[in-house]
Amino acid sequence: MVLIEAENDISSLNTQLLVNYVFTDEVSSLSISEITPDFDPIIREITESSEFKAKDGTISIVHNNVGSGIKRALLLGMGDKKNLDPEKTRNLTGKVVNKAKELGISEFVLIPFKNMDKEHLSAMVEGIKLSDYSFNNYKRDEDRNDLNQVRILIRNDMKNSQKIIQRSVVVSDAVIFTRNISNLPPNDCSPEVLATLSKKLSENQKVKVRVIEKEEMISYGFEGILAVGKGSASSPKLIVLEYSGSTKNRPIVIVGKAVTFDTGGISIKPPEKMEEMKFDKCGGCNVLGIMKAVSDLGLDTNVIGIIPAVENMPSGTSYRPGDIIKMYNRKTVEVLNTDAEGRIILGDALSFAVKTFAPKAIIDMATLTGAAIIALGTNVAALVGNDDDLVTKILEYSNQTGEKIWQLPLFEEYKEQLKSSNADMKNIGGRSAGAITAAAFLSNFVEDTPWVHLDIAGTAWTQEGTKEKSYNPKGATGFGIRTMVKYISSGNAG
Ligand code: BES
Ligand code: MN
Ligand code: ZN
Repeated sequence: MVLIEAENDISSLNTQLLVNYVFTDEVSSLSISEITPDFDPIIREITESSEFKAKDGTISIVHNNVGSGIKRALLLGMGDKKNLDPEKTRNLTGKVVNKAKELGISEFVLIPFKNMDKEHLSAMVEGIKLSDYSFNNYKRDEDRNDLNQVRILIRNDMKNSQKIIQRSVVVSDAVIFTRNISNLPPNDCSPEVLATLSKKLSENQKVKVRVIEKEEMISYGFEGILAVGKGSASSPKLIVLEYSGSTKNRPIVIVGKAVTFDTGGISIKPPEKMEEMKFDKCGGCNVLGIMKAVSDLGLDTNVIGIIPAVENMPSGTSYRPGDIIKMYNRKTVEVLNTDAEGRIILGDALSFAVKTFAPKAIIDMATLTGAAIIALGTNVAALVGNDDDLVTKILEYSNQTGEKIWQLPLFEEYKEQLKSSNADMKNIGGRSAGAITAAAFLSNFVEDTPWVHLDIAGTAWTQEGTKEKSYNPKGATGFGIRTMVKYISSGNAG
């Protein structure tokens, strides 16, 4: 894993590779020549000729054999400075990591560009950390080139940069922590394993964990979670994580769907790409990462994480189409499709959250519907909420993190699609507006609590149609964690 450090010793700086951002209209201010005069003529020749146009993401490696200093520099094209935004910095900085690995370089030094603000500095760190990630727990060691260290050159006028770097490292590590769990194969990640990992997390963090086991769930009436989990040999768990950073405020609750494998149950899915349904636990895994970040940052808020964890399997003990379930809040649900299982376990978790914690706000994250992908594709998550203020905030933070989110409406008409003649509601709302009717189902379990639902079906892992980004290597992305941590740490989250 790459270690990131701030470096301010320019005089005796040495490195295998010195990385410099170049814009079409500006070579970075603390130019390489200030650090290593030997490079000056070489860089000037390249940037002043038309050889290096500094187009987005273009990379040029420059060698220098004069003197005893740094022997190699990398120029990273960033396009026009006026088109700069943090997402570009994140993505293109990540490209440098991939290039360095390709070259077998284990360490480099990065020079921030002129007037780099907090957002770009964070994005730079995230770009490095997150693109360095790969999931290879299950592969024998190949000839992999590991990146060991990246130093960021900090100038005296960059106040607080040390702190910002540190914070971004913590958040990125939380994303990586989540990716490592989300990427686990379903045979190694049962609800029980998630419970164990949660307990392990709480050993090192200021997080308390409580796992509600099947027997307890029966006595409390979590019939939704129990029904979905019935068909599996692994019993369901309801994991509750608690972080107390304040004595005053009502908590924010983050709920995440963790279906460790979704076969569809009796309404079984077709075999194509079924293996991807190991990622149906990503919402829940995100919750673990968020709790880790919140605790590592020592935020002065109260945050509760709730993870209903089940495996959705077909068997002689499975729940069936036609079953009527009495949910935790005593509303009844007629099951018409056992593949619409996420909303059922979330329904129980949401009403448990409302009743137990009287939250200030609830956010749930779930790989809930294929319809969210039909509506928005695989690069944008769908948001549905019942509170304009909360919705606005989440959308605003998503703009800053590059985690694209788009709101869908929650009109009364959609709720009507869930009417059942046999129960309070049915668990599917027909073909039209599937992502919204799924959210409409959830709205039955949050009462008046300000609530936002994020359908991350398209964005939780890289899949067909996912735009390639250096910092999202193949597999789970941890999409949503950075936006949530920003929201929670914003202070106006409560
Ligand atoms: N986990 C799936 C949703 C999903 C599908 C996520 C593909 C990512 C990629 C969910 O449990 C599901 O099966 N939903 C059904 C609902 C339908 C039966 C109303 C779906 O989307 O097809
Ligand atoms: Mn399903
Ligand atoms: Zn599912």
